[in-house]
Amino acid sequence: MDEKTVENLQEAFAGESQANRKYLAFARQADKEGYSAAAKMFRAAAEAETIHAHSHLQAMNGIGSTEENLREGIEGETHEHENMYPPMLEAGEAAGERNAARSFRYAMEAEKVHARLYEEILNRLPDDGPMNLHLCTVCGNIETAIVEKCPICGAGEKAFREVE
Ligand SMILES: [Fe+2]
Ligand SMILES: [Fe+2]
Repeated sequence: MDEKTVENLQEAFAGESQANRKYLAFARQADKEGYSAAAKMFRAAAEAETIHAHSHLQAMNGIGSTEENLREGIEGETHEHENMYPPMLEAGEAAGERNAARSFRYAMEAEKVHARLYEEILNRLPDDGPMNLHLCTVCGNIETAIVEKCPICGAGEKAFREVE
């Protein structure tokens, strides 16, 4: 593929992906403030940005078979918890930025779990038996059984949501 076009698709994919998450956060804020039209428009735009992001990803042949995608998931999560987050966490702690440091730490610890779960699923392919997944809505940890307390952030059982 044309190199410049690939670069543009990557940049556009990153931008649209960020806009999606930002608008969803803005929609939640608008809900909290009681602004329903703004909330609805943020949600509509967020969904439109997802359409754009997926279209860009498709155009750069960024979606493989599930086996390939699981490998890519493992690679991404491993990079994040081994290389990306540790120096960010260290710098955040050194600067006394406690909220940022906690945010980095939660993500770093959760990415380890994500990599491990992708690996488990990859290793049992083509077997596709049922799997229970419980997501901690505070830190992004994922457990395969109900736990009383999140081992990463300490949140109670109520913070977990079963993933469909
Ligand atoms: Fe992750
Ligand atoms: Fe948690």
